[in-house]
Amino acid sequence: MKKIVILISGRGSNMEAIVRACEVQRWPARIVAVIASRADAKGLLFARAQGIATVAVEAKNYPERESFEAALVAALDSFTPDLIVLAGFMRVLTAPFIERYENRILNIHPSLLPSFRGLNTHQRALDAGIKVHGATVHFVNAQLDGGPIIAQSVVPVLADDDEATLSARVLASEHILYPRVVRWFIEDRLTLNATRVALTPPEPQCLITG
Ligand code: GAR
Repeated sequence: MKKIVILISGRGSNMEAIVRACEVQRWPARIVAVIASRADAKGLLFARAQGIATVAVEAKNYPERESFEAALVAALDSFTPDLIVLAGFMRVLTAPFIERYENRILNIHPSLLPSFRGLNTHQRALDAGIKVHGATVHFVNAQLDGGPIIAQSVVPVLADDDEATLSARVLASEHILYPRVVRWFIEDRLTLNATRVALTPPEPQCLITG
């Protein structure tokens, strides 16, 4: 049984999708904890209701990133995770933290990377006038939103979209994409080759929805 810890900062809808998929699809894995960078993260309520251990490591209580990460490491290591899943975790992690869990941290980002790294991806996509948008699941490395891409979901951008309609369409695709990728990891199907990630046996690493 592999052990998964999910890190959140807010709503936690991706975490919820992963928890549900793990249970319904009977993955050989267990979500052992949900850790939040804010004590008021809404997702903690769902996790607690599922009987999952929850911890708040409040970024605002730590003056520097190093002391915040030391507390995060202590919380994480107490659960001895095989995999750390960032699901709307809105803190930038330092290189030493990432190296400690090398190739064991996944993230979902709400754009088709390498386009639109960082924040406000949906509005920036609208402003750029692009006709397809989506989400990316990648291994986390020291480059912000720059780690090896595992899979992407693609949705259309419609003429009358605003930030709310577009982000809702992307989020719905995230809820399909992220559990699928976490399961691939759990099943040892992912191989990292420099910047490229292979899936064995192969299947499309691109999900088209919307
Ligand atoms: C998701 O759209 C996720 O892709 C994004 O935050 C949202 C979290 O929603 N992540 C980032 O922007 C990371 N830089 P959720 O809390 O409902 O899963």
